[in-house]
Amino acid sequence: MDYKYLKIEKDGKIATITINRPEALNALNREVLLELDSIVGEISLQEDINAVIITGAGNKAFVAGADIAAMRNMTPLEAKEFALLGQSVFAKIENLNKPVIAAVNGYALGGGCELAMACDLRIASENAKFGQPEVKLGITPGFGGTQRLLWLVGKARAKELIYTGGMIEAQKAKEWGLVNEVVPQEELLAKAKDMAQKIIANSPVAVRLSKEAINKGLELFMSLTCAYEAEIFADCFAAEDQKIGMDAFLNKKTPEFVGR
Ligand code: CAA
Repeated sequence: MDYKYLKIEKDGKIATITINRPEALNALNREVLLELDSIVGEISLQEDINAVIITGAGNKAFVAGADIAAMRNMTPLEAKEFALLGQSVFAKIENLNKPVIAAVNGYALGGGCELAMACDLRIASENAKFGQPEVKLGITPGFGGTQRLLWLVGKARAKELIYTGGMIEAQKAKEWGLVNEVVPQEELLAKAKDMAQKIIANSPVAVRLSKEAINKGLELFMSLTCAYEAEIFADCFAAEDQKIGMDAFLNKKTPEFVGR
C-alpha cells in the first residue's frame, strides 16, 4: 500500500517507519493515525521483519502531538472518537508481535510523547524534548499518556510534566527512565538499528513471548483506564478553555483561560 504521510524502509529484518509531515512537525491527524494503523497491521504479518523503528522526518520533531488545527472544532463526541482511534493505534504498536523502538529525533510532545511511550524502547537524540503540554491547550492527554507516563516515570514526575505542561530535555528524560539512551542526532538511527540488531540476534519467539508477558500485567488496567481517559478528553471539548487554548496556539498568542 502507498502511504501519504509515512515512509517505510526495510533493512534486512528491520523496518523503519518515518512519520513524514514536516510542515506540521509530524503532527498526528486522523489520516496519519489510520496510515500507522495500516502499516502496523501489515508488518505484523510480515515474517521477514523482526523489529520496527519509528521516527519522525527532519531533525526538529519526532511528533509535535495530535493535530491542533484538526482538533480545534471537534465536538465532544468527535474528540472521544479521535482519542479512541489514537489509543487503539498505540495499543496495536504496544502489542505488536515484534519489538518496536522509537528513535526520537526532536520534539516528542503530547501525542508524540504518547507514541514514543507506546513503543518498547526509546532512543533519543541530544536535542529531543519530551512533554505533555495539553493543559496549555485546555485539554488532557488523550492517547494513553496519563497512564503510560505514570508507569514509566512514577506519579510525582508524571504529574509534574502533565500539570506544568513543560518540556524536559533528553538527558533528564533518561534520568527519569523515560528514555533508554541519548545519542548525538547523527547517530540516532544507527544506534536504534544497533539496538534492534542485538534484539533480533535472539530467538524471535522468546522475544515475542517476553513482550507478551511484560505487557500482560498492565493489559486489563490499560483497557479500563484508557477508556476513562478518552471520556475525560472528550469532556474538555465541552468547555470554553479548549477553544481558548487551541485558538491561542493557532494564532500564536498566550491563552487567557476562564476555567469553564
Ligand atoms: N498540531 C498542528 N500543527 C502543529 C503542531 C500540532 N501539534 N505542532 C506544530 N504545528 C505546526 C505549527 O502550527 C506551525 O505551522 P505554521 O508554520 O503553519 O504556523 C509549524 O508546525 C511549525 O511549528 P511552530 O512555528 O510552532 O515551531 P516552533 O519551533 O516555534 O515551536 C513547538 C515548536 C514547541 C513544538 C510548537 O510547535 C508547539 O508547541 N507545538 C504544539 C505542541 C503541543 O501542544 N502538542 C500537544 C498537542 S495535543 C495532543 O497531543 C493531545 C493528545 O494527547 C491526543
